[in-house]
Amino acid sequence: MVYKGVIFDLDGVICFTDRYHYQAWKEMADDIGVYFDEKINNRLRGVSRMASLDIILERSEKQYTKEEKERLAEWKNDRYRELLGKMTTEDLSEEVKTTLEKLKEKNLKLAIGSSSKNAKLILSRIGLADYFDAISDGTNITHSKPDPEVFLKAAEYLGFEPGECLVVEDALAGIDAAVAGGFASAGIGEAATHKKVTYPLKNFSELAEVV
Ligand code: BG6
Ligand code: MG
Repeated sequence: MVYKGVIFDLDGVICFTDRYHYQAWKEMADDIGVYFDEKINNRLRGVSRMASLDIILERSEKQYTKEEKERLAEWKNDRYRELLGKMTTEDLSEEVKTTLEKLKEKNLKLAIGSSSKNAKLILSRIGLADYFDAISDGTNITHSKPDPEVFLKAAEYLGFEPGECLVVEDALAGIDAAVAGGFASAGIGEAATHKKVTYPLKNFSELAEVV
């Protein structure tokens, strides 16, 4: 298959902000005395901020009101953005940079398809503010992954059909979203184990060999 576009998840694919998400949620969970670990954290990949909080609070005995939940999510986001503040262009790996360049040389159009409302901030911290041909993120969707909306919007912004694009993901929910939207997918990390992933990848650079 010859693709015209590649749509990248951001957190855990282009850069490793997933560890900052974990750290900020962990501090919040410890503060309210709710058990949280890396395994539960894996369920938050690709999932929106409020849906992530609901997953963490499954372990809580206390019922939180909508207002309390909004305050917790806000606390987590403030802490997360503080951690993002430490990121620099050094946080973009050579492997990712070189692979993206190779894809551009093949005349592929590149887009971001991320559930995050902080996507543009992250891209600017790692020096990719103007790099992608389109950005679809948490600010232009109403349903987060596993719903395909974020990828459908990315394809639309690129001017391509889903069947002409490849989605690159690290999250199981992201592969579910790609499948639901009619996209081929490449999975790294846990996403490579998804039964319906088109290309299970060992690492990011392998991407240049499948497109
Ligand atoms: C996704 C992350 O990219 O963005 C999720 O994988 C996160 O873990 C989601 O919850 C929303 O991010 P943000 O930055 O809007 O809180
Ligand atoms: Mg991800």
